[in-house]
Amino acid sequence: MRVHVADHPLISHKLSVLRDARTDSPTFRRLTEELVTLLAYEATREVSVETVEVTTPLTTTQGVRLTSPGPLVVPILRAGLGMLEGMQRLLPTAEVGFLGMIRNEETFEAETYAERLPDRLDGRQCYVLDPMLATGGTLAMAIDFLVARGAREITAITLLSAPEGIERLERDTAHIDVPVHLFSAGLDERLDENGYIVPGLGDAGDRLYGIV
Ligand code: URA
Repeated sequence: MRVHVADHPLISHKLSVLRDARTDSPTFRRLTEELVTLLAYEATREVSVETVEVTTPLTTTQGVRLTSPGPLVVPILRAGLGMLEGMQRLLPTAEVGFLGMIRNEETFEAETYAERLPDRLDGRQCYVLDPMLATGGTLAMAIDFLVARGAREITAITLLSAPEGIERLERDTAHIDVPVHLFSAGLDERLDENGYIVPGLGDAGDRLYGIV
């Protein structure tokens, strides 16, 4: 697995406001979208394109367009939904599949409760959106799911990642022959005893959508 942690002052600035406990939900949602758009620019550097001929007002020249079938964006419900708009800003034609996963608060392991994805993903590049890579259980399960359906390449995009989660993903994806990449806006210190990322930003789903 290739891991990329962003190193850009604009990303650090936005991430700092996002972490602040006083940041309200509307601001949190807007910053999440902006951060994902910035991350997506790097994360899509290897998106598949093919050459096409373009007719300009003056002449014809060679350009590129996304290959078909195009990339698939997969937000993990619920918190990944807050990242979708930011991703679609750069990939407006991408199809979107949904995976509903929840963390069992006793075992911290992920459980799937909803799924809306194509039956086969052969040849598809998949971009998985999940803001917090904590224990890694959710993303590991999502990656397994997409690999089992035939995905060609998987790129996970997170806002914050914990070393424990990265280690788990590295372990769990070591046997997979599909390229897996991780793009994160920040790498934090550790998990606390409740599985929260420290210093972190709290519960991303609650901060995006309220405590429901
Ligand atoms: N999920 C969150 O929303 N926050 C954390 O810190 C860990 C998991």
